[in-house]
Amino acid sequence: MRALIIGSSGQIGGVLTGQCASRNIAASGAGIGGEELRLDLAQPAAVKEVFAQARPDIVFLCSAMTYVDGCERDPELARRVNALGPAAVAAECRARGARLVYLSTEYVFDGQAGPYGEDDPVNPVSVYGRTKLEGERAALSLAGALVIRTTVVYSYAPAAKNFIMQLISNHRSGTAMRVPKDQLSNPTYAPALAAAMLDLALKGACGVYNVVGPEVMDRYAFALKACSVFGFDPSFLEPRLTAEL
Ligand SMILES: NC(=O)c1ccc[n+]([C@@H]2O[C@H](COP(=O)([O-])OP(=O)(O)OC[C@H]3O[C@@H](n4cnc5c(N)ncnc54)[C@H](OP(=O)(O)O)[C@@H]3O)[C@@H](O)[C@H]2O)c1
Repeated sequence: MRALIIGSSGQIGGVLTGQCASRNIAASGAGIGGEELRLDLAQPAAVKEVFAQARPDIVFLCSAMTYVDGCERDPELARRVNALGPAAVAAECRARGARLVYLSTEYVFDGQAGPYGEDDPVNPVSVYGRTKLEGERAALSLAGALVIRTTVVYSYAPAAKNFIMQLISNHRSGTAMRVPKDQLSNPTYAPALAAAMLDLALKGACGVYNVVGPEVMDRYAFALKACSVFGFDPSFLEPRLTAEL
């Protein structure tokens, strides 16, 4: 089986690439982060050429414009990267008979309730959430496509800006870190998520799956847990209400 991992320079795509290697799945990487195949999702015309080179049986679409505030500032670019690019990828999967796994987000929900099940109604309240939902729908228009929604993904990845890496960086530099104490989520360890993605894909799962870590906690509690694991004095953490941030 040949896999194409779009966004293999990112946090989750990188872990997934490593796990493909350990499962003897041949994987090519594509994206804008120096991967072997150059693919800017904002330029969907490039998709055909990348597929011609990679000839994938399965495509893991991990790339996205993930900077939520940046999506608000440039909704047109967010839509091109998060929705129209994925639609072009789905179309090429259809043309070549490849399977598609699209990585999505809890931002398709409005956050007023939760934890959410797969069948709960979506109601995105941000450009990021709306464009990712549009990407989901483009993926699901392809028979057999798998959409995996996740949340607050973390790992030890020095180049990444995930919450845990920000916490380590703030602790090292002695910089105070304001952390919301009223945002609940299930922090999700990237290697566990990547393993679940591969397991589901190899079992032929399709449709929508929510794949997250086992514990619901607020962001401050998560930060305190991390400090305890790393042996950090947590006094640099400043719990805040989201409204104050
Ligand atoms: N991290 C989370 O907490 C979280 C939670 C829920 C869902 N997700 C979803 O999981 C996926 C990956 O998340 P992640 O944590 O791995 O994010 P990440 O580390 O920010 O990686 C995003 C990847 O997308 C690439 N990318 C950005 N713009 C692109 C473009 N125009 N064309 C092609 N590639 C582009 C990035 O390349 P560069 O590095 O070169 O910019 C990077 O490889 C996303 O679809 C996201 O919506 C993440």
